[in-house]
Amino acid sequence: MSSETPAGHPAIDWSKWEPAGEGDVRSPCPMINALANHHILPHSGKKITKAMAVEALTSSLNLDSGIANVFASVAVTANPDHSAHSFDLDQVDKHGLIEHDVSLSRNDIAFGDNHSFNSELWEEVMKTYGDATETSFASVSKARYGRVAASKQAHADAKKDFQYGIKEFILSYGESALFLGILGSPKDGKIPLEYLRVLFQEERVPYKEGWRRLDKPLTQMDMNHIIFALIKENEHKAAEASDVGLGTVHAVSNAVTSILPSFCSIM
Ligand code: HEM
Repeated sequence: MSSETPAGHPAIDWSKWEPAGEGDVRSPCPMINALANHHILPHSGKKITKAMAVEALTSSLNLDSGIANVFASVAVTANPDHSAHSFDLDQVDKHGLIEHDVSLSRNDIAFGDNHSFNSELWEEVMKTYGDATETSFASVSKARYGRVAASKQAHADAKKDFQYGIKEFILSYGESALFLGILGSPKDGKIPLEYLRVLFQEERVPYKEGWRRLDKPLTQMDMNHIIFALIKENEHKAAEASDVGLGTVHAVSNAVTSILPSFCSIM
């Protein structure tokens, strides 16, 4: 990891951080909210163009520009004004676009609020880590699958329609891979749990706690590596593959390598 400012970019003052104020909007994504809180994206959360989002994600986090472009392009389509070339953070909670059931820190749309941080759900997720002080591929995988199982059960109990297919499966794994890859080393799945709490609970990048920007961009290859490691550790991988309509774990691997690089085609 590096604290260096990338060439051609102004230095980032990570100590500059303010939560959303009156009239500001935020999203169901802890990271884009954090970047708005740090004034790296507009603090209002409004009128974010694709170029602004790509610049923010690549320069501050060293996310590969290809991945950043995909997220930013999809986000712009969330704007109900189809002639606009920008989005507001609260527009990306549009269900079925990027937002999906089984989030780690937000409730599912069938139960009302699919947008706001939900401390009760989040604390259930955090219980998976027990007394550990850092994550592992196994614990992150277990925490993620725990939400899938709990959400499936909650929908069944309430006789609601549970929406969890291949697209949601990939997004769910992709989001765990994103926090592991961006907050730690893409190689080993280890990040301090404190970083996770700071990101999700405060919507702040844990610079003060020791996080530094990756030396090299987080690429699609890195993401695939993390996702495969998470799938490998999932004790329920066969059942989950079958639930999302992929007959075998092998089909899951194929789906990740062939579908993930072209997120756009499934959104
Ligand atoms: C323009 C870029 C991005 C957009 C538009 C975006 C949008 C979203 C949306 C709509 C969700 C909600 C999905 C759900 O229902 O759970 C989400 C979740 C998430 N995003 Fe982002 N995101 C972006 C970039 C990033 C980056 C760079 C990271 C890196 C750490 C990240 C980390 C996460 C995580 C960890 C979640 C899961 C939250 C949860 O399960 O409660 N996102 N994102």
